Amino acid sequence: MNTVTSTLEAYRPAMHYASKDTWLNDPNGLVFHEGIYHLYYQNNPFGNVHGNLSWGHATSTDLVSWEEQPVAILCDETEEIFSGSIVVDHGNTSGFGEDGTAPLVAVYTSAYKPGSLHQGTQAQSIAWSTDGGYTWTKYAGNPVLTRNSPEFRDPKVFRYEGPAGSYWVMAAVEALDFAVLLYRSDDLRNWSYLSTFGPANGTGGVWECPDLFPLPVDGDAANTKWVLTVNMNPGGPNGGSAGQYFVGEFNGVRFTSETTVTEGLQDDARLAEYDWLDWGRDYYAAVSFSNVPDGRRLMIGWMNNWQYANHIPTAPWRSPMSLVREISLTSADGRPRLVQQPVHEGAAGSTAGQAQFLSVDGSRTLDGGTAVQLLEVAFTPGTAGEFGLVVRGSGDGSTGTRIGIRPGAHQLFVDRTASGDTAFHDAFASVDSAPLRLVDGQYALRIFVDHCSVEIFAENGQVALTDLIFPDPANTAVSLYSTGGTTEASLKLTALASGRY
Ligand code: FRU
Repeated sequence: MNTVTSTLEAYRPAMHYASKDTWLNDPNGLVFHEGIYHLYYQNNPFGNVHGNLSWGHATSTDLVSWEEQPVAILCDETEEIFSGSIVVDHGNTSGFGEDGTAPLVAVYTSAYKPGSLHQGTQAQSIAWSTDGGYTWTKYAGNPVLTRNSPEFRDPKVFRYEGPAGSYWVMAAVEALDFAVLLYRSDDLRNWSYLSTFGPANGTGGVWECPDLFPLPVDGDAANTKWVLTVNMNPGGPNGGSAGQYFVGEFNGVRFTSETTVTEGLQDDARLAEYDWLDWGRDYYAAVSFSNVPDGRRLMIGWMNNWQYANHIPTAPWRSPMSLVREISLTSADGRPRLVQQPVHEGAAGSTAGQAQFLSVDGSRTLDGGTAVQLLEVAFTPGTAGEFGLVVRGSGDGSTGTRIGIRPGAHQLFVDRTASGDTAFHDAFASVDSAPLRLVDGQYALRIFVDHCSVEIFAENGQVALTDLIFPDPANTAVSLYSTGGTTEASLKLTALASGRY
């Protein structure tokens, strides 16, 4: 292995899924089945840039360590297999089940190739598995839903059980119309139109990869609301790809949002008022698992951005997934907001340090910085105009990823301009910010640092900011800083086990 190759491989995450030696993008078909979490994903089995889209596959029992499996659904001469979802067809409504076994049914977008019967269109197709999701058979009657549209894609299917009845519902996008279309079916083969949502809020780019699910507000099942998530590229709050969400009601036919800021097309001046799943540059195409017990709602996003996705300096693999996030709803200032908490407990061998209480004025490098760690820090603002941390730093202040807070501007930011390798694409070196509120007199952050990423959760999980970074592997220093005054900080560092898979 030469030096260049080993540096590139050094970015392979310890806590996040990345394929062994191929390209990946969107998570697809996330499903829990018979004790196993299945992560399928947009995959180029033949290279490490976007192309030959097929469904790759990985499995996990703890949502932290993943095992790569053989490619699940392969592209062919007629179609690429674009994003979609999987349901466990408990009632065998599709008729694909055998010997009393409930089939898994995948609903995906056929992106038809030139020369195929349906060329120029994207339509929804199905495939089934009766061996627990390892081998798949495409339905001979595909596609099962077409609008003869070139940009109709990303079906997310769930079982609706409610006042309106019991049936399958599909959310899919007309990407260029900023529209989520809902359909219903009794057998997953025949679909009829229900309604359309959009345009609303973020419309700075095409709408992709929707999801629709119920969640209790503050754990109160009697006050359940529906969440519609929509990914969008470009036009995110800090540029490029990002996901937004709406909260409201779904009556079995129509989703009605109660959190819409801008009906119709985006008002750029109000971009920061929209609800974003993540304010960072590298959390896209997020969707949730189906069939998870106990009503848990778990999501994964693709940790990359279409602005530079094909160029990030990793090889032979390219693109990691985010950590799995457990999602809930809370009511803050009378408004429903999504709360995200990463699932990381499975990381065996993690060692928590002692909590430290520090007064910072200027910059102060701490003991205990490691390449892969969780930093839990709470700042009590004083007179300083800005404070925060530098992670994956050189220790001398010249290099590192700055995670800062400007209390006067109510702003959290990540400055990755000096984070390491940024030269591979013009759009990469960036300062990405999010609005941030003081909670009980403090700004508390949970920061997950891995070999090529930082994922930051603030306001008890109501604000997330995820960015890729490509630091020198030797740079593991953590410093605190406070500019123009003193800041009190409490801090705990937990070294997370580097169980690369
Ligand atoms: C989102 C997306 C989807 C599409 C897939 C193709 O990143 O563009 O809309 O199905 O990627 O790989």
